[in-house]
Amino acid sequence: RERKRQEGVNLLELSASFFRERLKMPEGQQAREYLARRGLSEEVQRDFGIGYAPDDWEALKRHLSARGVAEAVQVEYGLLVQREESGRTYDRFRDRVMFPIRDVRGRTIAFGGRVLGDAKPKYLNSPETPVFHKGRELYGLFEARQANPRLERLVIVEGYMDVVALAQFGIRNAVATLGTSTSEEHLGRLFRMVDEVVFCFDGDRAGRQAASRALETVLPQMIDGRTARFLFLPEGEDPDTLVRREGPEAFEDRITCASPLSEFLFDQAARGRDLARVEERERFASQVLKAVSRLPQGMLKTVLLGELARRTGVDQSRFDALLASEQEAAL
Ligand code: UTP
Ligand code: MN
Ligand code: MN
Ligand code: MN
Ligand code: MN
Repeated sequence: RERKRQEGVNLLELSASFFRERLKMPEGQQAREYLARRGLSEEVQRDFGIGYAPDDWEALKRHLSARGVAEAVQVEYGLLVQREESGRTYDRFRDRVMFPIRDVRGRTIAFGGRVLGDAKPKYLNSPETPVFHKGRELYGLFEARQANPRLERLVIVEGYMDVVALAQFGIRNAVATLGTSTSEEHLGRLFRMVDEVVFCFDGDRAGRQAASRALETVLPQMIDGRTARFLFLPEGEDPDTLVRREGPEAFEDRITCASPLSEFLFDQAARGRDLARVEERERFASQVLKAVSRLPQGMLKTVLLGELARRTGVDQSRFDALLASEQEAAL
């Protein structure tokens, strides 16, 4: 298994350096212009190992095959696509800016590639391979730890460009999930490194939905001493556009002022409800209690129940009793 990983990693490293070299060559000019238009310095491009996959159906295949990598292996690691009918193979990534995805030790395990214009799909990612599992990996985690081995907080954003743009402005603690929602596995991994995570999704409907899902996922992870907060961006903005418009100090301020989990939880349950009405207060309390029931035992759970009691005017012992009977029913 370890040998397998080694084989894959070598081939992926070979590919990453191929893409980096192509970015420097004449054929990479449009990609270089694209990166410059997006405000990315050569230093940040180097830190993240950004490259360019040429506009050619077999450029990488020729490069790897000449170095003795079997085509079947190139297919297995997602670099080549194989046609069902003919069995013919061709480069998966063509004419795209390439972002290597690295594991925590810095080994390239997959790629994300962005088109230079507005063709679809905008981003193409490596498929699941023996070394790449989307629901587990976070883009930028290796680079964040490189920049600061004593990280205390990580900011979870949606996209590659968000991570890289924040880094360009000196905010070097952002990571992105790879086109999937934040999983328990992601959070387990992050909380082993830091005590605080800040969710920062795009200021659009999808981003707000992602925040609600992230709240659900993070609840069971909230053992005492950990902090989760939620940063909501103005409509139409993502971290990339916002840090460019407002600058890094303003963005840092937004991170510092992000809503604590408790505030997001209560706000969300209260949204659109008139808590002067008994039935709406009932729904509000049910929604909060449902979330609280997913928290591990601890002080946060206790204090949230106290806050729920205060906001509803119901004695806290009633909620304790409801939770206990619910837990009994679940056994
Ligand atoms: P966005 O559409 O918000 O992209 O998707 P972005 O990062 O802001 O991209 P730019 O600024 O236009 O370059 C967020 C993330 O969702 C995944 C990628 O991981 C992307 O970074 N995604 C998006 C895909 O996997 N495929 C797509 O076609 C689009
Ligand atoms: Mn998998
Ligand atoms: Mn979006
Ligand atoms: Mn975005
Ligand atoms: Mn963007």
